[in-house]
Amino acid sequence: MNTSLRVIILCQSIFLSFQVHRSEGSSANRIVANLDQKGLEVPCTIQPNLTFQHLGWFSCSTIEECRSSLDEHRIAHIFNISTVLVDFPERFALNATGVLTILKVLPEYDNKTLLCRVVTPLIGSREFITLLEISEESPRIVCRSPQTFYVVKGMKLVLECDAVGYPLPQVTWTRDHELLKNETGTDANFVREIANMEDSGSYVCRAQNSLGFDNHTIQVTAIDIKSCSTSPPPGKEDLDSATAISKLFYPLLLSLFLLLLIAVAIIIYLVWRIKKSGVIGQNHPNNCRVESGDDNQNVPGQHIANHAFNLEDIPKKEDGAEEL
Ligand SMILES: *[C@@H]1O[C@H](CO)[C@@H](O)[C@H](O)[C@H]1NC(C)=O
Ligand SMILES: *[C@@H]1O[C@H](CO)[C@@H](O)[C@H](O)[C@H]1NC(C)=O
Ligand SMILES: *[C@@H]1O[C@H](CO)[C@@H](O)[C@H](O)[C@H]1NC(C)=O
Ligand SMILES: *[C@@H]1O[C@H](CO)[C@@H](O)[C@H](O)[C@H]1NC(C)=O
Ligand SMILES: *[C@@H]1O[C@H](CO)[C@@H](O)[C@H](O)[C@H]1NC(C)=O
Ligand SMILES: *[C@@H]1O[C@H](CO)[C@@H](O)[C@H](O)[C@H]1NC(C)=O
Repeated sequence: MNTSLRVIILCQSIFLSFQVHRSEGSSANRIVANLDQKGLEVPCTIQPNLTFQHLGWFSCSTIEECRSSLDEHRIAHIFNISTVLVDFPERFALNATGVLTILKVLPEYDNKTLLCRVVTPLIGSREFITLLEISEESPRIVCRSPQTFYVVKGMKLVLECDAVGYPLPQVTWTRDHELLKNETGTDANFVREIANMEDSGSYVCRAQNSLGFDNHTIQVTAIDIKSCSTSPPPGKEDLDSATAISKLFYPLLLSLFLLLLIAVAIIIYLVWRIKKSGVIGQNHPNNCRVESGDDNQNVPGQHIANHAFNLEDIPKKEDGAEEL
C-alpha cells in the first residue's frame, strides 16, 4: 500500500513536470477497481483537447514489457484520427476521444499496466500510463441454497454457494466433516447428478482467502418418493366417491327443480283464479262509483239550479193556477 502511494505521488509529479515542460515523456495514473466491475472507463489524458493522428492502448505486466514489444500487447487503437479498431471487442471498447472501457474487470487485470500512446504530427509521440489494481476483499457468500433442503431420490442435487472476494477464494464443500470438493473460484456449486438416500446430511460451504473466510451450512434431506406411493389410492377413492355423489346429485337437483317449477305453475294458476273472481266482484262497486261520479260530474249547482227553476216554475204555475 505504501509503495503504491509513493507510486501515485511520483506519477503525479511526473505528470506535473510533463505538463509544465510539455516535453516528450510519460505520465501515470492509478485505478483501483472491484472484481467483476462493469464498464470501467480508463481515460488517456495526455493533454486536454489534444488532437492526435494515431492512438494506441497496450496492456502489459510492466512498462518495460510494453515498450519492448508494443504491437504484441496492443488491445485497441485509433488510426488516422477517426478509424477505431478494437483487438478484443469482447473485453474492451474504445471511443473516438480515446477513452478505453473495460467491459468487465477480470482477476487477470490485477496489477496490469495500461499504456496509452498518442502520435501527433506536431509534438510527436506521448505516453499515458495507468496502473490497474483490484481491491482486495474478504470472501462473502452471496448466493446460497436455503438452510434446509430436500432432494428427491434419483433427481439432481444442486447446492449453491457463490462467493465473492479477492484474491479469489478457495471454496471447500464438506458433508458431516468429510471433504467433498476443494476448488478456487467464485462459482463453486456442489452438484450430484443422481441423488440417493446417502446424500442426506449437513453440508458446509466455506470460502477462504488471505483476508478471511465465510461459511454456509445446508441441511440436506433425501426423500424416497416410492414410500409416499400408498397415499394416492385413498385419494383416488375419495375422488371416485365424489364423482359418484356428483353423478347422483345432478339428476336429484333436476327433479327438485322440476317439482319447484310445477308448484310455481300451480300457485300462479291459483292466484290467477282467485284474482279473476276477485275482479268480477269488484266490478259492481266500481260501476257504482262511476255512476256516482257521473252524478258528481253533473255539476251540483246546476242540478240545484235546475231544481230551483223547477221549483220556481211550479209555484208560478201553482200561483197561476191559484190565481186562475
Ligand atoms: C476543449 O474543447 C471544448 C470545445 O470543443 C472547449 O469548450 C474546452 O474549453 C476545451 N478545453 C480546453 C482545456 O482547451
Ligand atoms: C505488481 O507489478 C509490479 C511491477 O509493475 C511488481 O513489482 C509487483 O510484484 C506486482 N505485484 C503483484 C502483487 O503482482
Ligand atoms: C486519413 O483520413 C483522411 C480523411 O479524414 C484521408 O484523406 C486520408 O487519406 C487518410 N489517410 C490514410 C493513410 O488512410
Ligand atoms: C467517449 O467517452 C467519454 C467518457 O465516457 C464521453 O464523455 C464521450 O462523450 C465519448 N465520446 C464519444 C464520441 O462517444
Ligand atoms: C484445498 O486445496 C488447497 C490447494 O489447492 C489447499 O491449500 C487446501 O489446504 C485445501 N483445503 C482442504 C480443506 O483440503
Ligand atoms: C462458520 O463460521 C462461523 C463464524 O462465522 C464459525 O463459528 C463456524 O465454526 C464455522 N463453521 C464451519 C463448519 O466452518
